[in-house]
Amino acid sequence: MSSHDDFSASPGEHALVATSLGDGARALRADHPPTRLRARYGPWAVVTGASDGIGLAIARELASEGLDIVLVARRGDVLRDLAAELSQKHGTTALVVACDLATDTGISALRAASEPLDVALLVASAGFGTAGRFVDGDLTTELAMIDVNCRAVAALTHYFGARFARQGRGGIVLLSSLVAFQGVPRAANYAATKAYVQSLAEGLGSELRPFGVDVLASAPGPIRSGFGARANMNMSMALTPDVVARQTLRALGRTSLVRPGWLSKLLELSLAMLPRWGRVKMMGLVMGGMTKHLG
Ligand SMILES: NC(=O)c1ccc[n+]([C@@H]2O[C@H](COP(=O)([O-])OP(=O)(O)OC[C@H]3O[C@@H](n4cnc5c(N)ncnc54)[C@H](OP(=O)(O)O)[C@@H]3O)[C@@H](O)[C@H]2O)c1
Repeated sequence: MSSHDDFSASPGEHALVATSLGDGARALRADHPPTRLRARYGPWAVVTGASDGIGLAIARELASEGLDIVLVARRGDVLRDLAAELSQKHGTTALVVACDLATDTGISALRAASEPLDVALLVASAGFGTAGRFVDGDLTTELAMIDVNCRAVAALTHYFGARFARQGRGGIVLLSSLVAFQGVPRAANYAATKAYVQSLAEGLGSELRPFGVDVLASAPGPIRSGFGARANMNMSMALTPDVVARQTLRALGRTSLVRPGWLSKLLELSLAMLPRWGRVKMMGLVMGGMTKHLG
């Protein structure tokens, strides 16, 4: 495929763009022996939410480990720039799938684009949150959140989980959260979507292990990314997405749950001794601080 071939770019439809390897980049790649991640989960990884935050940091980390990547998000222009960056820096071949994962069309586009590729890793990072009292929020947005955070994750883990089990190897990384382990006032629906993801990862991990497929739930605390602005949360204390990317990928294939960064570990420690109702109350206080500006 030539650099930046458009397979489909009509308005309102998904757009797929291929970025090819330059000769210099190919030589750069050939010099490196395969890393643990490439040997176990390569050659292709699918990363959703690759245009920002944690997904972007994970895509960069995977590229530096020698994997080729299907980059997924709605903002195709951002993904195209990223594809060019990864190709130039690491000799990565990247396929851009610009699609809305809240829709069946978007999910089908991703499945169709991935079908011919030798994929053995799915990182499902696309997601968003909201803040404030659930009944005051916009119902359409709350239902769209369930579509992206849960429905798309179910569809993609079902498809790739079956593929990986058939091929006898693979990895699935799901973005859980500190909020997944109890109800959270002022982020009630968001926390419920993450409880779904956490539970899915645990059950699926046990089902797929005998088939050579590793499932990892990554449960960060507050991370500085596009998330806070979109959710309207004030995250003055937060870690960077790079920390999550590094620690999550290091944990893949070694454990089933990782809490990346000192902040998530500290927050979990402060919640650990409390009964479930106490955790809900404590998280209500934390979220109250992060959403004070909403009144
Ligand atoms: N940041 C935190 O504090 C935090 C903590 C714990 C867990 N998490 C979880 O980590 C994951 C990543 O969050 P983040 O901090 O990286 O947020 P972010 O910086 O806002 O990135 C979210 C990504 O999801 C994509 N996305 C959102 N809606 C989409 C849709 N309908 N279709 C396709 N792609 C969509 C966005 O791309 P486009 O806008 O281009 O579509 C973007 O690439 C989420 O699942 C989140 O719940 C975040």
